[in-house]
Amino acid sequence: MKTQKSSLEYSHFPVMLSEIIEISSPSKGGLFVDCTFGGGGYSEALLKFPKAQVVGLDRDNSVKNIANKLEKKFLKRFKFYQSKFSQLDNILKENVDTIIFDLGLSSLQLKNLKRGFSFKSKDKLDMSMGLSNTSAQEVINKLSESQLKLIIKILGEEKEASKIAKNIVRARSEKKITRVDQLVAIIEKSKKRNFHSKINPSTKTFQALRIFVNKEITELINGVIIAAKILKPGGKILTVSFHSIEDKIIKYFFNNFSQNKSRPSRYLPEEKKDNLILFEKYTNKVIRPSESEIKKNNLSRSAKLRFAVRSKNKFVYPENLVKKFNKYLDIEATNV
Ligand SMILES: C[S@@+](CC[C@H](N)C(=O)[O-])C[C@H]1O[C@@H](n2cnc3c(N)ncnc32)[C@H](O)[C@@H]1O
Repeated sequence: MKTQKSSLEYSHFPVMLSEIIEISSPSKGGLFVDCTFGGGGYSEALLKFPKAQVVGLDRDNSVKNIANKLEKKFLKRFKFYQSKFSQLDNILKENVDTIIFDLGLSSLQLKNLKRGFSFKSKDKLDMSMGLSNTSAQEVINKLSESQLKLIIKILGEEKEASKIAKNIVRARSEKKITRVDQLVAIIEKSKKRNFHSKINPSTKTFQALRIFVNKEITELINGVIIAAKILKPGGKILTVSFHSIEDKIIKYFFNNFSQNKSRPSRYLPEEKKDNLILFEKYTNKVIRPSESEIKKNNLSRSAKLRFAVRSKNKFVYPENLVKKFNKYLDIEATNV
């Protein structure tokens, strides 16, 4: 399958675009929700099919100019909302054919050094994608050492979290940490040198802070639950994830709330067991970008695409999904 490039934004490659389009099958028409509009690559490709109606969402207002162009070009077939996808049911209540989540940061956000997402930046420590209540600067300067350690260890899966948290607290007692390069220097000083590692020493701490500032795990869990609520029977939910916490959550949701899953408890009444099945048989393996896509866009290398098909069952809130991943939700609920 070939990767198409969006005409809207030439520096941005929508990840696994042809695979997304093939699974969504917009040629048949229907209502599509692009929950993570970004550079607009998926929305634009879907709109090329004349019977497709698209709703685009992004928490980041800076994509508004790209969305405006699509609204002008496709008129009633496209509508953009600046919103978090956890609020999707304020916009649409039912009858959706396909809902797509392309999680995390866009390359446009990463490349804009003023946003503070890149460890190449010398700007202020912001890391908000938009519509968040805090910034990385507040997190770094206000939280306790143990809170910082937990965030870096659990959300960043960083083994050297203790040392990094300790050094952050020591450094800020001398001078407030306001810029990205100050934090990078603290992390580099804290970590053992690993000449075999292919990733930058700051990668995991930055991932942790970004996830925390934007409450990304809470957003993901609430977002996929709402998607299951408003999809039509036979409708599809597609997710592109970039790190293991996201993929673990999606895999658990699709596997454990689908037809092929062994029933939760044999003591539950038959009706109750069936209610917990939100998806048809989940047999779809993870889909990865092709070699040629990775060559063109190295940022796609860790992407995993999964999809599930909504069953005919009435929606029942999947409490077990929330319980299972409560550890992450609790951390993200820490007050700053
Ligand atoms: C990886 S990019 C999407 C790129 C897009 N598929 C394209 O082809 O250009 C992710 C986008 O989702 C947005 N985003 C992330 N989390 C969100 C959330 N909870 N609600 C709404 N938008 C979100 C980000 O601001 C970013 O613009």
